Amino acid sequence: MAVPVIAIDGPSASGKGTIAQRVADALGFHYLDSGALYRLTALAASRQGIHWDDEHGVAAVAHALDVRFAGEHIYLAGDDVSHMIRSETIGVGASQVAALPLVRAALLERQRAFAQAPGLVADGRDMGSVVFPQAPLKVFLTATAEVRAERRYKQLIGRGENADLAAITADLEARDARDRARSVAPLRQLPDAHLLETSALGIEAAVGQVLQWWHANA
Ligand code: C5P
Repeated sequence: MAVPVIAIDGPSASGKGTIAQRVADALGFHYLDSGALYRLTALAASRQGIHWDDEHGVAAVAHALDVRFAGEHIYLAGDDVSHMIRSETIGVGASQVAALPLVRAALLERQRAFAQAPGLVADGRDMGSVVFPQAPLKVFLTATAEVRAERRYKQLIGRGENADLAAITADLEARDARDRARSVAPLRQLPDAHLLETSALGIEAAVGQVLQWWHANA
């Protein structure tokens, strides 16, 4: 029997990561943060002096990615890069390398390998459309651009980093526009995905809604 997958897609800073992780914890499922793989690819490429628009070069980096996920920590070639990959610069790099078809192809099987018993919650942009099209539950999670920019701003300030709300809003909008407009695996709500608008919804309520859909499906 196929391993059950819950696919959660949506724009940047929509709360996907937190909600997907909590749903996975509640069900005892594995969790895939697919955006982290694009972020790691961007970071690894820049460390090797490979430009983010060099499709063949970056795809080779993606193929060879030496990455280990250990709870909250993410290691690249043995180096703990958990914080580094969350920077705005790497976020921009991730969305540039993610627009390259060979890079997406290089990461496809690596993502599918996360589907292990008893189940997987996967978040990203194309979990329901490309990576796990057979997922029995697909969710499109979103919030207004203002709310998402505000969340990202608070996250950065909370980590003691400098943050400028106007610059974050502009970055988010540029990244979302690129994610929606690209020719491969663009971000979009699928006809078979449940829409979850979280602008006015707390984390617990959002998690509860996904679990309710899951149990209604089962
Ligand atoms: O989700 P996160 O913001 O960490 O993703 C970083 C970037 O990686 C996104 O802006 C998007 O361009 C890309 N991405 C993608 N497909 C995924 C996950 C992330 O294209 N499944």
